Amino acid sequence: MTEGDVNRVPDGAGEWLGHQGARWEAHLETFEAMLAPISQAMAEHGACSPGARVFDIGCGGGRTTIALARQVGFDGEAIGVDIAPGLIAIAQRRAREAGLDHCRFVVGDAQSARFEPGSFDCLHSRMGTMFFADPPAAFSHLASLGRTGAQASFAVWTSPCESGWIAEVMAIIDTYREAPPPIGDTPGPFSLADPDRLFPLLSDAGFRAVSIDGWRGKQPIAQAGASPQEAADFVLKVMSLGRIEDDMPDEIKERIGSEVARLFSRHSGPSGVEMEASAWIVSAQC
Ligand SMILES: C[S@@+](CC[C@H](N)C(=O)[O-])C[C@H]1O[C@@H](n2cnc3c(N)ncnc32)[C@H](O)[C@@H]1O
Repeated sequence: MTEGDVNRVPDGAGEWLGHQGARWEAHLETFEAMLAPISQAMAEHGACSPGARVFDIGCGGGRTTIALARQVGFDGEAIGVDIAPGLIAIAQRRAREAGLDHCRFVVGDAQSARFEPGSFDCLHSRMGTMFFADPPAAFSHLASLGRTGAQASFAVWTSPCESGWIAEVMAIIDTYREAPPPIGDTPGPFSLADPDRLFPLLSDAGFRAVSIDGWRGKQPIAQAGASPQEAADFVLKVMSLGRIEDDMPDEIKERIGSEVARLFSRHSGPSGVEMEASAWIVSAQC
């Protein structure tokens, strides 16, 4: 078995090997554009130094890993790990086309990726750490991969009820369902949203100097230039948020679709729909 290889499908990541991964792959550029403001916010919290060896956790199609490879230069190395083979194939092609030999990708489970302990100078993840089945074990393992003093930078979503447009879309959906399910304990986009759980989780895992800073800013919703209805269709039919509707009758889904499109029309301009979002930018040291 080589570094980072996966030998089982981890609990909680199965969706990324199924429909969630397929949707992410089919709409990769759109999802990446939606996350671009998060990368800007992470960059404001610090960068990896030239020559550094960096691990990009849950790297998806490798957009962030490639940016990190450029940041650390040819004397450094950027390695992206993702559970989804299709996304890693795209990432590998992109790095090849960009001529970045020091940017490598491995299909694997980041929770237990087999790298030498203490072998990274930076750990990075843009929205790739919320899907771990056993977060304490996963973060302890990740902390062990950084050398002493290595910089860790993770972005995770805040709770949906605090998160701008997501809160507004959820409020529309909630008027049509009895009780929203509790959020927080199961792997998923909002599993690390509570800073009172996140801070001890990371400290107990061995990270030091943990700081959790709130980011609020504009996020494009769906593809550039999308109409309010197209953006509503993207959110409800492509994003995992729309799965909340799965058990609802078609007539209710249509009503929700129209209400969400109406909401988006109030935030629509020539470049498409843009609304406020929020995230936590976590910085720590190994
Ligand atoms: C929201 S996407 C973010 C992708 C990428 N970081 C970006 O910003 O473009 C989450 C990624 O985490 C990956 N993922 C989920 N669980 C994982 C695990 N246990 N190990 C490695 N990758 C995982 C998914 O396959 C998916 O590509």
